[in-house]
Amino acid sequence: FALVQPQLRPLDSSIRELVGTDHPVLAAAAHHFFERAGKRFRPTLVLLSSAAAAGGDPADARQQRLAEITEMIHAASLLHDDVIDVADTRRGAKTAHRIYGNKVAARASLLLARLKDVQVVELLATVIEEMVQGEMMQVRALPQQLLEFEHYVDKTYRKTAALMSLSCEAAVLLGGKPPDHAEALRAYGRHLGIAYQ
Ligand code: FPP
Ligand code: MG
Repeated sequence: FALVQPQLRPLDSSIRELVGTDHPVLAAAAHHFFERAGKRFRPTLVLLSSAAAAGGDPADARQQRLAEITEMIHAASLLHDDVIDVADTRRGAKTAHRIYGNKVAARASLLLARLKDVQVVELLATVIEEMVQGEMMQVRALPQQLLEFEHYVDKTYRKTAALMSLSCEAAVLLGGKPPDHAEALRAYGRHLGIAYQ
């Protein structure tokens, strides 16, 4: 966290601006959710991966935008998860739920397209598909499956680690580094994501 602190600081205002909206209810929801910042773990991984693949140089503008996109995908997934879990609170406050989740997801998709990197768009689209499948695996799991380690790791990869893993890989690709660097950072993100859960 200390290594990327200077780049993490402007992230909150940048995200607030990016999801800014003319609609007063959505604007209030944006304020509500991003005021209570979490740990910023996913953007931190993206910024660290960018620096690692560039011999320590800080993330460039597109890699910083990717860091913001990962936090937005994460936020959207939590808001949807709160609908599925019928949860009333998130980060100690009343949850903003589905409408806002869709809004954040839509804005993240637009920002992703604007990075104009087909491979990175495909990686992040894969992440969203994995997250939906992971959430479904959990909802539909039979009691016996909940006790199986293989099932647990597979579910955890999809629901939690895929976003970390594939966004670390995407950060390296945006920096123009070769596939072996991207592959290494993808493995790093995967291990971290599974351990994190
Ligand atoms: C937290 O679950 C939820 C996730 C890690 C991801 C959930 C993914 C979806 C709902 C798919 C939709 C995805 C997008 C991108 C729109 P938890 O209930 O185990 O943790 P919690 O205690 O923080 O709620
Ligand atoms: Mg939940």
